[in-house]
Amino acid sequence: MKDERASGERGEAAAAAQEGANATPSADPRRFVRPQLRALAAYHLDLSPCPHKLDQNEVPFDLPRRLKERIARRWLARDWARYPDFHSDELRRRLGRRHRWPWRGVLVGNGSNELLGVVLEAVVRSGQEVLIHLPSFGLYKAFVLRAGGVPRFVGPRPDVRLPLAELAAAVAEDPRRPLILCSPNNPTGDAAEPAAIERLLEALDAPLLLDNAYGEFCRYDYRPLLARHRHLILLRTFSKAWSLAGQRLGYLLADPGLVDELIKVKLPYNVGHASAIAGEEALAAGAAVDRRIRVILGRRPQWKRMLEGLGFEVFPSEANFLLVRHPQAARIQRALEARGVRARDVSGYPGLDLCLRLSVGSGRDLRATERALRAILEEIRA
Ligand SMILES: Cc1ncc(COP(=O)(O)O)c(C=O)c1O
Repeated sequence: MKDERASGERGEAAAAAQEGANATPSADPRRFVRPQLRALAAYHLDLSPCPHKLDQNEVPFDLPRRLKERIARRWLARDWARYPDFHSDELRRRLGRRHRWPWRGVLVGNGSNELLGVVLEAVVRSGQEVLIHLPSFGLYKAFVLRAGGVPRFVGPRPDVRLPLAELAAAVAEDPRRPLILCSPNNPTGDAAEPAAIERLLEALDAPLLLDNAYGEFCRYDYRPLLARHRHLILLRTFSKAWSLAGQRLGYLLADPGLVDELIKVKLPYNVGHASAIAGEEALAAGAAVDRRIRVILGRRPQWKRMLEGLGFEVFPSEANFLLVRHPQAARIQRALEARGVRARDVSGYPGLDLCLRLSVGSGRDLRATERALRAILEEIRA
């Protein structure tokens, strides 16, 4: 497997060198881009307006108007001609207080995705393998390649649950490979018990990047593992439970000494005035956010019941979305779109044939989705 990949890469590199040798100086400049990156498809989604948008795992509520106005007032009062703080220290302090973790062990980024890239760039050696489980968040592969690493995929299992035993075997085989674990997992919603993650940490002699973007919706709290395992990096985001996907803000919690090193890799001023203020104010309104999380958690079983009642297989979810399977998934997804409900077709992910993913939306979304599905399934039966 390893040799196959290595010879594939040598082939690509030779092809690129050949392309370079034949090129005139004005030839297509794409030839300068590393072949592994050129082979990637750009991240793309339909962002056109849609009455019931359930395809990006967002929450259905914007920040309350009063809170947005407070953020806007503070933003207006800032001097926009001046750079922001290098590393958004005030927000780091507030996050440290919320999570009872030293603020120097908090790093803030332009979305948690930025930080995932920063960590990998900092820790992955050129050509080093990085363990990624399947199915999982599609961007991990690109981040590993960007960092000069080689993704080594584990899974999918037939039941598409997190392949924890398989990951443990891969770690036992070589404990020095960094591991990216998404829990709750996007796009399945499955989550690992803290004890299972702890067992991986005990065997691993490399960083474990635990993507906990949906952590607020999950029964498990992984934060206590941080104090016991200094190679754990816990990534969180303001994009989901905190209603701030549009502001691009995420953070990580890790060993303060490690964060000191990551700061050298992260760009200075990576978070602008507006996002940092939005994060600070959202944290100050944390009690209201907690109530909204409870609303989503209350709705998740309603969505599950509705979908199961209509004949979908619904996978267990610890996140604000549900993975479902149906023999007519692709047709249903297209018909939903035509009726103003946007679900995500995830059937192309390894192991997820015939699967769709839907965010847990508002009550209105739920009623509209149920109406649309009833009509579509009737058409299919007719
Ligand atoms: C697994 C996972 N990680 C991270 C993110 C969010 O990243 P960001 O904080 O950059 O919005 C998402 C968003 O869809 C996700 O699904």
